[in-house]
Amino acid sequence: MREIKRIACVGAGYVGGPTMSVIAQKNPHITITVVDLNQARIDAWNDPDLNNLPIYEPGLDAVVGEARGRNLFFSTDVDKAIAEADMIFISVNTPTKTYGKGKGQAADLKYIELCARQIARVAKDDKIVVEKSTLPVRTAATLKSILDNTGNGVNFHILSNPEFLAEGTAIPDLHHPDRVLIGGEDIRAIEALVQIYEAWVPRERILTTNLWSSELSKLVANAFLAQRVSSINAISELCEVTGANVDEVSRAIGYDSRIGSKFLKASVGFGGSCFQKDILNLVYIARSYNLTAVADYWEQVILLNDHQKERFAQHIIKTMYNTVNGKKIVFLGWAFKKDTNDTRESAAIYVADHLLEEEAEIVVYDPKVSAEQIYRDLDYLGTRSPSENRRLLTVVSDPYEALAEAHAVAILTEWDEFKHYDWSKVKDKMKKPSFVFDGRKILNSKDLQDLGFQYYAIGE
Ligand code: UDX
Ligand code: UDX
Ligand code: ADP
Repeated sequence: MREIKRIACVGAGYVGGPTMSVIAQKNPHITITVVDLNQARIDAWNDPDLNNLPIYEPGLDAVVGEARGRNLFFSTDVDKAIAEADMIFISVNTPTKTYGKGKGQAADLKYIELCARQIARVAKDDKIVVEKSTLPVRTAATLKSILDNTGNGVNFHILSNPEFLAEGTAIPDLHHPDRVLIGGEDIRAIEALVQIYEAWVPRERILTTNLWSSELSKLVANAFLAQRVSSINAISELCEVTGANVDEVSRAIGYDSRIGSKFLKASVGFGGSCFQKDILNLVYIARSYNLTAVADYWEQVILLNDHQKERFAQHIIKTMYNTVNGKKIVFLGWAFKKDTNDTRESAAIYVADHLLEEEAEIVVYDPKVSAEQIYRDLDYLGTRSPSENRRLLTVVSDPYEALAEAHAVAILTEWDEFKHYDWSKVKDKMKKPSFVFDGRKILNSKDLQDLGFQYYAIGE
């Protein structure tokens, strides 16, 4: 196996961008080119002002600042990057299919396939091809078949190297991963990738498995994490009717080392590009093997999550005297979690959709998400026309402006700044009674009640 001097990464998104930035930072002797079809995205990655990178991640600007122009490059010339590379990461998007067989469940592999065909066409020497995107089990076989059958007779070694970073903490996750997982068949190809990670990850944290175990482990890790959130969210509803407090329950069970304390925060529902997609994918795979009990079991995680979003919206309506028509409800947060500008599958989208159906007047403030993105998310649902969405929902850049004369506040994302608002001042500006619906449980119920708010938090 020749030494890895050049890497190409196809796909400059939330996974490809930060991952390659850190690999480049830690391996200054390797030249890495991240390519994407999206010219605007590449321009943003190349923007001299590091505040304009296309994705917001704490600490990413410093890493890109260190490596970009030295051994890290962003380009739209996909062919050139592939032709020159010894190793190619595939980091393109794999959304859930919106058409045909498996619609709404299976992963749409068209971007992967296009990418594989392009690699096969362009490659004139042997390449190691690394799956970085989360893929259904056995995609490597598809990839290998395309590469071998449409290629120029060169050798392709396929590795699966799923990414476990979480958005909002991508840089610390990449710098100090719990583990790096590499699946493959060819020991020398595996070793070539191990060496790249060994530049900063202790060897005992680099796990190697066969291809299928690696692919499946990624889906299972996300399914288990999402299941924890749905499990605690199910308990949150029980807490609300029985008088228990879900935070106290989380704490009590989290002390059990077999359960562990992380990922037990009740919320308005999980979002993000991975959890729902990966579980749907797992369910689809199980069904395709006729494993009905297995499929039903995991599907319940999604159903509970949908229920949690719906019931939060219903609770708002019920509490506000069964009508929100024409009432101003301020959404604090639109991103699917704090410290990211990503909104994919964010609970806020679905809660807004319910309330807009009831003709509420929604005003959104999010510190990092643009108005265009918010409207794109709503328009994509297709529930009502784009002009209706713009009539009923407005986006503001000053939270205090938003809160003037509001009937209610709904907290959809746990941004730290919301905790530090002057809630007494907020109370003065709002209509009475002033409702706060805390979908993230970030405020203190006693403090808010003492200020005179009608305060509701998930699981309390
Ligand atoms: C359980 C709880 O662990 C304990 O905290 C509580 O007080 C009582 O219930 P117990 O039923 O005695 O304790 O044993 P436990 O070790 O939890 O095992 C329960 C069952 O799960 C056993 O049949 C065990 O074989 C099975 N199990 C456990 C597995 O199949 N896989 C595992 O990874 C762990
Ligand atoms: C997840 C996995 O954590 C990561 O390993 C994988 O690579 C990609 O998918 P991500 O979706 O970026 O990462 O964020 P994560 O922190 O897992 O949060 C997902 C969703 O669950 C968010 O909406 C978050 O608010 C919610 N969540 C998480 C809770 O509601 N409660 C929790 O306790 C934890
Ligand atoms: P993820 O969260 O998995 O990183 P993103 O959607 O943020 O997903 O990023 C995937 C990127 O891959 C997008 O910017 C998209 O333009 C790019 N992409 C998809 N297909 C190709 C392709 N064949 N060649 C180059 N880039 C591609």
